[in-house]
Amino acid sequence: MPRSRSAVRYAVAAALAAALGLAGCESLPGAGGTPAAMAPLIQDVHSFARPNEARVRHVALDLAADFERRVLSGTATLDVQARPDAREIVLDTRDLEIVSVRTEAGPAEWRLGEAAEHLGRPLHVAIGPRTRQVIVEYETSPDAAALQWLTPEQTAGGRHPYLFSQGQAILTRTWVPTQDSPGIRQTYEARIVVPEPLKAVMSAEMLTPEGEPAAGGRAFRFRLENPVPPYLMAIAVGDLAFQALGPRSGVWTEPSMLAASANEFADLERMIDAAEALYGPYRWGRYDLLVLPPSFPFGGMENPRLTFATPTIIAGDRSLVSLVAHELAHSWSGNLVTNATWDDFWINEGFTTYFENRIMEALYGAERALMLQSLGWRDLQATLAETDAADTRLRLDLAGRDPDEGMSDVAYEKGAAFLRHIEQTVGRERFDAWLRSYFDRHAFQPMTTEGLLADLRASLVQGDAALEAALQLEAWIHQPGLPAVARAPESPAFARVDEAARAYAEGAGPVAVPWGQWTTQERQHFLGALPRQLSAERLATLDTAFGLSTNGNSEVLFAWLMLAVENRYQPAVPALERFLLGQGRRKFVLPLFQALWAQGDWGRPIATSLYARARPGYHSVTTNSVDRVVGWSAG
Ligand code: BES
Ligand code: ZN
Repeated sequence: MPRSRSAVRYAVAAALAAALGLAGCESLPGAGGTPAAMAPLIQDVHSFARPNEARVRHVALDLAADFERRVLSGTATLDVQARPDAREIVLDTRDLEIVSVRTEAGPAEWRLGEAAEHLGRPLHVAIGPRTRQVIVEYETSPDAAALQWLTPEQTAGGRHPYLFSQGQAILTRTWVPTQDSPGIRQTYEARIVVPEPLKAVMSAEMLTPEGEPAAGGRAFRFRLENPVPPYLMAIAVGDLAFQALGPRSGVWTEPSMLAASANEFADLERMIDAAEALYGPYRWGRYDLLVLPPSFPFGGMENPRLTFATPTIIAGDRSLVSLVAHELAHSWSGNLVTNATWDDFWINEGFTTYFENRIMEALYGAERALMLQSLGWRDLQATLAETDAADTRLRLDLAGRDPDEGMSDVAYEKGAAFLRHIEQTVGRERFDAWLRSYFDRHAFQPMTTEGLLADLRASLVQGDAALEAALQLEAWIHQPGLPAVARAPESPAFARVDEAARAYAEGAGPVAVPWGQWTTQERQHFLGALPRQLSAERLATLDTAFGLSTNGNSEVLFAWLMLAVENRYQPAVPALERFLLGQGRRKFVLPLFQALWAQGDWGRPIATSLYARARPGYHSVTTNSVDRVVGWSAG
């Protein structure tokens, strides 16, 4: 007699628990109101922590921001949980000045270990069987990689300085001495003193929206009761104002940016509703956006309760809001169920890219969603063509490397294509039911690639051999490139744009395309679909007809500038300079410098002199990448 379904399910569930590294249900955090036992965690090659011996459960920061010296200084009080025989706890630090370390019982023995490339230095602190707290008194470096200290000139208002942090992937250790691994979840609270009249915001509940008087300025207090990986701890300080968008959503930014930001993100509350209707309750209370100054190195960063976003998505027509759908989706994929290590990064970004597109479809329809999928697919093809095969697998091996190196379109777009393949194979209804239960069952826990595979087999495949064969799970995850079963998204709208691009490139005379009726996505696709080599006449005709060099949409301008640089089109160089001096988003800055560099005797002198001017305004995330392209060395 064949094994019953439930028996199969039981056996697979046991295998799943083993793959996840869970000892059993009683060890899950917070189960039954008892103190959480130490669920075993796998070792992360990008952290010095040994969490199976001693781990940080809660971080309490008491810090002051000094804009003259460009340092944060104060204390981090860490609640520790340790095995009875643990003799030390190991923390991650990088470029921190450690002043003193004590426990609740008094001064502690401590030492900083050897520095390791990319990782910083371990901080070893001696503990005893009764140690509950470790208190680190410290100061950050003015060059802390996570922090960018902006002069007033680098802000929209021009009158006050600004500070923001970027923790992902392994930068939190440059401003908080804790165990900086995505598997080691911690709750946090903070008290931050900033000079008048600045405000502090964090990825946490604001306990003192107006701040309170404190020596040297005003103090702002925060608390996050959901445990999060340390890369999600985030802070920004500046001249900030707030506008509500819905009952649980709103936008923070500099006062002069507030009206435009509120208008751009008017659909935010509906996005949250759509996300919840798809995959279950939003578990973080509020969802606010912070629109940063233009040097913010990413499009967006999913800091809990407060997504950080680049101002380059404020197009005036809400055409680039898929980025908000993306960061919102991380409230489930990433912030709730978190990649256990950076080798599993695709579990954050692939799921989020899929989910983002479902939110976009729910709000704006299937046609728009398909266009966005198609743009992603084209980026993926380009990435696959230029990336070492080993790094085109979903599950990566980043040992000894900066995790940043693994963070390509592969995780995002191959990951999303994989999930679309599962959806199309099992049907949307069944797929959605599985995904929703996946978020519920693994909420507030790390997820490995093997754990995900085990879950898919236990909860979705359930022993169906034909389904297993159709899904090609192992090929998608462990083989380079795309498996034969992968299907390109087909957008009928883009098929018409492709035809228009071909006709324009091959023809002569004026440009006859319905540019004015096209969406931003169709315009982006058109510019990307043109042959990479075009005559100066064809480029000039386009530029004049559509005002490309003065286009206010950052994605359209970027697509145009790439094409212009690839053709050494001199008339676009002033626009290129304005764009590269005006914002520091790595996704735009890096490819443009790479394209300039590839243009040898024409592009390299432009790149060199422009980079010298632009570099002081960029965040370290961006300079780290571009320095290597243009051979920048200090001095
Ligand atoms: N979490 C990422 C940003 C990130 C990735 C920071 C890796 C550090 C290391 C964020 O959710 C993201 O993916 N942002 C994208 C935008 C998105 C719409 C693809 C970006 O910044 O371009
Ligand atoms: Zn993301």
